[in-house]
Amino acid sequence: MDVVTTSESIRLVQISDTHLEPEEGGTLLGMDTDRSLRYVLDLVRSDNARIDLLLATGDISTHGTPQAYQRFARYMQQFDAPVVWLPGNHDDNAVMTEHCGSPEAMAGHIVIGHWLIIMLDSTISRQVGGRVEQAELDRLAALAAHHADKHVLVACHHPPLSIDCEWIDPQRISNGEVFLDALLALPNVKLLICGHIHQHWETSYRGLPIMSTPSTCIQFKPLEEDFTLDEVSPGYRWFDLCADGTFRTGVSRVEGVEFSFDMNSGGY
Ligand SMILES: [Fe+2]
Repeated sequence: MDVVTTSESIRLVQISDTHLEPEEGGTLLGMDTDRSLRYVLDLVRSDNARIDLLLATGDISTHGTPQAYQRFARYMQQFDAPVVWLPGNHDDNAVMTEHCGSPEAMAGHIVIGHWLIIMLDSTISRQVGGRVEQAELDRLAALAAHHADKHVLVACHHPPLSIDCEWIDPQRISNGEVFLDALLALPNVKLLICGHIHQHWETSYRGLPIMSTPSTCIQFKPLEEDFTLDEVSPGYRWFDLCADGTFRTGVSRVEGVEFSFDMNSGGY
């Protein structure tokens, strides 16, 4: 889909790892994930006078259920902007595609203003960890070449590198450096964003900026050896994608709301 915009920059909102359960009010490690998502979306509405695109970077449903995708699509209808999704390890790609509510949502890319946004599938069937297959690398290269006059933002679910969390690091994209070198070979790729790690993380690889967004539900504590939850609130990331290929970004978290969860949980 091509979206024409007259403004100089694109306001993109990234939300991730909503982990909706089959029934509204269902919980993940004791946290009601519908409730926390609604608070984050209220924050998105109050923070952003204008939104050009919403991007959900996977683990939308914890169990890949139609009800979770239908509910997520309904929540997103409150925004007057296109919404694009990509799958995480907890998602079911086929069920997601059937229930995402619009043909654009799972189309895999969108052109908006001066930017091309490419959604990659980094999942491996029935595995927690990630990998980017050659077919996805080929699709990426073909799209970037076809839209050589656009700046490119690439999004996927898993991080491509270590985040210095020993328990999560084995789940990173197993061919992460091959993937990143493929991105560096495309001159119009400006940044890579991901989800999965339920925490704020920013780094770069040979000059390519890479960053994640917090989950809209439970948060994982950075720099921990073992599974550890964090008490920081759910949130989202925003981007202003400028016409000259530069960008601004930040993370915004819900304030003044209590979120209960099982702090002593040993994993999920
Ligand atoms: Fe995930």
